[in-house]
Amino acid sequence: MLKLAVCVSGGGTNLQAIMDAIDNGAITNAKIEVVISNNANAYALERAKSRGIEAVCVSPKQFAERAEFNKALLEKIDSYGVDLVVLAGFLVVIPPEMIRAYQNRIINIHPSLIPSFCGTGYYGLKVHEGVLARGVRVTGATVHFVDEGTDTGPIILQKAVEVLQDDTPEVLQRRVMEQAEWIIMPKAIDLIANGKVSVEDGHVRIAE
Ligand code: GAR
Repeated sequence: MLKLAVCVSGGGTNLQAIMDAIDNGAITNAKIEVVISNNANAYALERAKSRGIEAVCVSPKQFAERAEFNKALLEKIDSYGVDLVVLAGFLVVIPPEMIRAYQNRIINIHPSLIPSFCGTGYYGLKVHEGVLARGVRVTGATVHFVDEGTDTGPIILQKAVEVLQDDTPEVLQRRVMEQAEWIIMPKAIDLIANGKVSVEDGHVRIAE
């Protein structure tokens, strides 16, 4: 059974999709051990608690130095003995020591087709604002392993979503969630939990 820590910062709709997929059998062989938020007010924490899942806050505000927060975050995750860390809308720069400790064991969902509209400054609604400003016709979402760069790790799954003429950032964000994020994030976890995903020479291989 793959033990998961899910890290969140906000609404937690991706967390909800993961919990629903575990409940309805779309994800097998996986269990959420803990949900961790950097934001005490994140609604995602309520979603976890309402399912009886342990929900904790580790906030940079609780520490004088960033290094102390980084250490506390890593210690908290270590304390649950998890196999996979799932970043589901976690808007925190992952400390390098955590990336080293969990190499190819941290996955992230990004709301665009990487390598477009990703990297520093592209998160949440800003991604969709960038998409609309450039006028691209197709966007989507990506699940990838986390490495030392920002949105540069090996890509596991992607799904394309159409951009429509009169989209606002909010309308587009919702469509990308519904048609891509809530599908590929649970799918990626199920593939990993069932031993189907490997990384070779920086590229992901998915077994049939
Ligand atoms: C999602 O759209 C996710 O892709 C994005 O934050 C949102 C969180 O929503 N993540 C990033 O932008 C990471 N760079 P949620 O809390 O409802 O799952």
